[in-house]
Amino acid sequence: MITFDDVEKSYPDGTVAVDGLTLEVPTGTLTVFVGPSGCGKTTSLRMINRMIEPTRGRVLVGGRDIRDEDPRILRRGIGYVIQHAGLFPHRTVVDNVATVPRLLGASRKQARATAMDVLARVGLGEELAQRYPAQLSGGQQQRVGVARALAADPPILLMDEPFSAVDPVVRKELQQELLRLQSVMAKTIVLVTHDIDEAITLGDRVAVLRPGGVLAQYATPEELLTAPADEFVAGFLGAERGVRLMSFFSSADLPLRTQPVVTQRDAERVDSGRWHLVVDDDKRPLGWTNGPGRSESSSVGRTFVPGHDSLRAVLDAAVLSPSGHAVAVDGDGRVIGVISGEEITAAARSLHSSRQSGLDSPARTGKPR
Ligand SMILES: Nc1ncnc2c1ncn2[C@@H]1O[C@H](COP(=O)(O)OP(=O)(O)OP(=O)(O)O)[C@@H](O)[C@H]1O
Ligand SMILES: [Mg+2]
Repeated sequence: MITFDDVEKSYPDGTVAVDGLTLEVPTGTLTVFVGPSGCGKTTSLRMINRMIEPTRGRVLVGGRDIRDEDPRILRRGIGYVIQHAGLFPHRTVVDNVATVPRLLGASRKQARATAMDVLARVGLGEELAQRYPAQLSGGQQQRVGVARALAADPPILLMDEPFSAVDPVVRKELQQELLRLQSVMAKTIVLVTHDIDEAITLGDRVAVLRPGGVLAQYATPEELLTAPADEFVAGFLGAERGVRLMSFFSSADLPLRTQPVVTQRDAERVDSGRWHLVVDDDKRPLGWTNGPGRSESSSVGRTFVPGHDSLRAVLDAAVLSPSGHAVAVDGDGRVIGVISGEEITAAARSLHSSRQSGLDSPARTGKPR
């Protein structure tokens, strides 16, 4: 666990970079610091590995005040990844990654073996190991940066805008890669970004900082989207807050209708102008029809499995469907029923208001621990 206890960092010129920060990052979870430029994200992060010392308050790692630790020993347990990867340009990829194990006393051979192992874990093949950083793409360089931070297998990982220098597609790939790695590594990670989407995608918890280095809200992504603490947080979450929130709602208990689902034979007798879903004898969807003799006239598009897909995915399916309905199937792909876009948004609204009243109740207020 990493604990900030009323931490302040001010500079002689009067700038207050971080103002009274108090929060806990539970062991094995990923916390994101997010906020506009200059709000103190990097400063807060660097106070965890003592690259910056607070002017007031304490930072504790595993319950111990880090002022009592030798910074070099402290940093052995803390990997650090920065934007543009910060690789040594004159060392090969494998040597970049092997640097930390070497510093920790591993033999050359051992260190290289460790390096090859972590490179594979972040999705980089052997063929890239002998290249120099300049011979890699931006996304590959970031992966090397992550590999280097992981090479000593530190329990804590600090990441300062690790994916902000790569294009949006690679960025999404790297985010998914990090989530996959974290699901097996369970490190204690603090990641800084100014991208709220990245924060919501990656964070178990998200700390929203406002200018002046003040914590505006510290909550799970779902709690942030459901109940932003104030106008600043709501504004920062952006105009698509409602749709983003829908990705946290389950499609498990949606009211499904079976009435517009017909067999191929019955499809010959349906009324014109109304959409029907045609299924085969095994209940697998064939297509939408809006008149007799036009069976399978429009493709079904994407189906959803109740309880598996989010409401956001269900709404997406409905919007793209010719009939305005999303099609629910069981695990074997057999149709269970359909639901309209209006019914999906109604379900989302009712889930939202029940969560909101849940958040307002005394049992759920206060900082998540
Ligand atoms: N040595 C310094 N002297 C005075 N002010 C400083 C110093 N270092 C940082 N600051 C100020 O502290 C504030 C917080 O800086 P910090 O780098 O933590 O912001 P940030 O949230 O990481 O911003 P960005 O998103 O742009 O990286 C800024 O206003 C910055 O100008
Ligand atoms: Mg910064």
